[in-house]
Amino acid sequence: MTADINTELPPPPFSHRRRWASEQAISFLMQQAVENRDVVSLAAGLVDQASLPVSETRTVLEEELRDADHAREMLQYGTTAGLEKLRETLVEHLSRLEQRSAMEMDLTADRIVLTTGSQQFLSLVGEVLLDPGDICLVAAPTYFVFLGNLNGLGARAISVATDADGMRMDALEAQLERLESEGELERVKLIYLVSYYSNPSGLSLSEDRRSEVVEIARRWSKRHRIMILEDAAYREMRYDGPVFPSVWSHDVPNESVILTQTFSKSFSPGIRVGYGILPRDLVDPICDRKGNEDFGSSNFGQHIISGIFDRGLYYPHVEQVRASYRSKRDCMLDAADKYFGDIPGVSWVHPHGGLYVWMTLPDSVDTGFDGSLFDRATKHEKVMYVPGELFYAGSTAEKFTHQMRLSYGVQTPEGIDEGMRRLSQAVRAML
Ligand SMILES: Cc1ncc(COP(=O)(O)O)c(C=O)c1O
Repeated sequence: MTADINTELPPPPFSHRRRWASEQAISFLMQQAVENRDVVSLAAGLVDQASLPVSETRTVLEEELRDADHAREMLQYGTTAGLEKLRETLVEHLSRLEQRSAMEMDLTADRIVLTTGSQQFLSLVGEVLLDPGDICLVAAPTYFVFLGNLNGLGARAISVATDADGMRMDALEAQLERLESEGELERVKLIYLVSYYSNPSGLSLSEDRRSEVVEIARRWSKRHRIMILEDAAYREMRYDGPVFPSVWSHDVPNESVILTQTFSKSFSPGIRVGYGILPRDLVDPICDRKGNEDFGSSNFGQHIISGIFDRGLYYPHVEQVRASYRSKRDCMLDAADKYFGDIPGVSWVHPHGGLYVWMTLPDSVDTGFDGSLFDRATKHEKVMYVPGELFYAGSTAEKFTHQMRLSYGVQTPEGIDEGMRRLSQAVRAML
């Protein structure tokens, strides 16, 4: 008997994971950007178009593809952990960033895994450590795409309060004590930190707290080791202020901290190369999981990054990019003074690096997608920002709804000034 093709079939048999991966706010923002082409976007977290490394990449490609055998190697599959030569280079790179020798750090290439951006690494760590119902402690506010990863795994993100020095260690201890008293300590597996110029707040974790968080994670590792996932995506985008060693560097036995970094911000997000550094007993689990997903990220992209380092093109480019963002940051801070300085109850963070200015408005202004400011800003003033509430885990009651993330990455200095002027008009209309 043949099936009747006109019979309407029931819906596809979606998994729990499909349901947990609820609609992502990022999709809504992208759609808004497409529908409102004439808006000045202070929302997009994209990197500066003008300083993308076109000539450096062309040089590497021309030279590396000239030798047909080498070109074939680049065009072939790579390995799950990624190009060994680049992982060796990353040992030196880390050594330079941390100002310590590889031996002092006890770092070898076999503890490094190359991924499709650092985003894939974050996702792999979540998959390897978290079962549904497990807990990851996160800063309030934090990077919303990782909150999406946690949701997608059915894990619980629990907020820890922050101040100007990043995640508050007293608040972290208080959450751990509360969870223990409620019999939930066993579910706490991960502490997630964006340690440099955080997305969205622009703040870094202070030096004292870097060692303290490692000590707290160790002390609370009663039944199992509580891991720290240090996301240092913006580490190299420093414009001024103190130079911090990573949280990872404070974990001398290399047991508790997983560090991830990326070439997306400092070089090119299109090449899609990120990496993670793992305690030894996590390397195989992460590679096994990655083997299940893609048995290796773009070998071609890894060869490009490796070629960039080999020719000494990386560090001069980073210097150039930093100078460009430094002036864009200054431009946004000047515009904030100029257009928002006289509005009572408005304040903002002065970031020392990264791509964002985090602005707080009077409590009465709802910055959410459904609030009147977002509508006024996008439809009337033609400017877009990212609502602050997206960066908070937990229930509505735990979210601040009067903040905004403003990005100076993709706009020109004129665009930043104009965007800030328009936004201030929209805010004034709310007061
Ligand atoms: C804090 C943070 N972590 C990780 C990422 C992921 O970047 P990528 O996958 O391009 O390395 C981003 C991207 O914006 C980010 O802001």
